[in-house]
Amino acid sequence: MKLTIFAATGGIGRQLLGQAIAAGHDVTTVARNPRGLSPVPARAVAADLASADPAALQPAVAGADAVLSALGPRTKADAGVAARGTEVITEAMRAAGVRRVIVVSAAPIGTIPSPGRPHPPRHDPGDGFIIRYLADPIVKRALRAHYADLAGMEDVLRDSDLDWTIVRPPRLTDKPVTGRYRTAYGQNIRRGVFVSRADVAHYMLSVLDNPETFRRTVGVAN
Ligand SMILES: NC(=O)c1ccc[n+]([C@@H]2O[C@H](COP(=O)([O-])OP(=O)(O)OC[C@H]3O[C@@H](n4cnc5c(N)ncnc54)[C@H](OP(=O)(O)O)[C@@H]3O)[C@@H](O)[C@H]2O)c1
Repeated sequence: MKLTIFAATGGIGRQLLGQAIAAGHDVTTVARNPRGLSPVPARAVAADLASADPAALQPAVAGADAVLSALGPRTKADAGVAARGTEVITEAMRAAGVRRVIVVSAAPIGTIPSPGRPHPPRHDPGDGFIIRYLADPIVKRALRAHYADLAGMEDVLRDSDLDWTIVRPPRLTDKPVTGRYRTAYGQNIRRGVFVSRADVAHYMLSVLDNPETFRRTVGVAN
């Protein structure tokens, strides 16, 4: 398939790129610093998604069967890039007539309020006692701006008419790909505390043309 991968220099992005090339896909990458890309046979387009113009991204997505994004703020200074960048990506997709997009969010986002979802459930049905009452409150306080950004990114997709899938992993690791992980629609995974970046990428690539995952959030964890 023809794929466009945004943020291909990140942890999940590198995995997406490597696994997509290994599977024989025809890949275009978009990165703010293409020098950070793995040396693989793929077209590279440079764009800072904090300030990119949809018209400039249109050639990078034109003709793609699917767009994958592992975009997220690397530092506090990047906060807001997931929502803003995803808005630009979806506008470029609409202009180019591309419908399929798969992005990475995070496990706590189902319970984070956002302008488009001001009253989310207080707890995710997949989260047990420790996550709900001990881990979540601390992590949500520490990563408030990051999670608000991801919740805004999810709003952008829900407001679009695209065939989106939002993947919500818990804590990411750098372990190798296994292809053995659990998934659940619309909720987190019971006792699923970790998942590797490689397995998140594996899942994203496994649902490229799976209509069952269109317009759904998916919990993925070991
Ligand atoms: N860490 C966790 O345990 C965890 C858990 C659940 C969910 N998540 C979410 O999963 C996402 C992906 O994880 P990861 O480990 O792959 O993250 P990462 O390694 O920090 O990668 C973030 C990617 O976003 C890109 N980016 C940031 N700002 C940009 C901008 N202005 N323009 C263009 N690209 C920009 C980075 O590009 P550069 O290489 O140029 O910086 C990088 O490619 C995270 O961002 C987070 O939201 C993380």
